Amino acid sequence: MAILKIARMGHPVLLARAAPVADPRAPEIARLIENMAETLEDAGGVGLAAPQVHESLRLFIYKVPGGRAEDGALDIPLRAVINPVITPVGDQVVMGWEGCLSIPGLRAAVPRYETVWLQGVDGAGAAIDEEISGFHARVVQHEADHLDGVMYPMRMADFRYFGFNEELQKFEFPLPAIKLAKEPVDE
Ligand code: NI
Repeated sequence: MAILKIARMGHPVLLARAAPVADPRAPEIARLIENMAETLEDAGGVGLAAPQVHESLRLFIYKVPGGRAEDGALDIPLRAVINPVITPVGDQVVMGWEGCLSIPGLRAAVPRYETVWLQGVDGAGAAIDEEISGFHARVVQHEADHLDGVMYPMRMADFRYFGFNEELQKFEFPLPAIKLAKEPVDE
């Protein structure tokens, strides 16, 4: 295992459209997932996409820690999603705070679909086919965006809600009201 270097915003790998993983069961893919897991653990985030570690492949890992208010007891251990397909379910869009390991120290309120349909293959080669909502859906949309060269500032609706973690945590910052159900935040 190895801790990988994380690309920061400005590196072209983060703007590229990543290539499909030809064989999700290949040993080098398993090794990449292991190294990404160690890198995520070291960096302290909830998700990491392969382009963020300079591998332009359609694969990400994520976890959903328990105790998130909007998701109740939901607690999803670290998992990999290979060649994901994300399909919005309904047109409800919600605002929520997001950070990114490629944009250290900052966070922003970003609109995301409340519910999406997630399809793909997991790290063991098993099919993923599930409907997900709330913070879980937010994390997956954020990570899947990385595979298309999209980072969260490119999804923002209001740049007033963009700042340094150190500053934002000093203030009770109410999120902007949602009036975005018809806005094209996905394609
Ligand atoms: Ni990110």
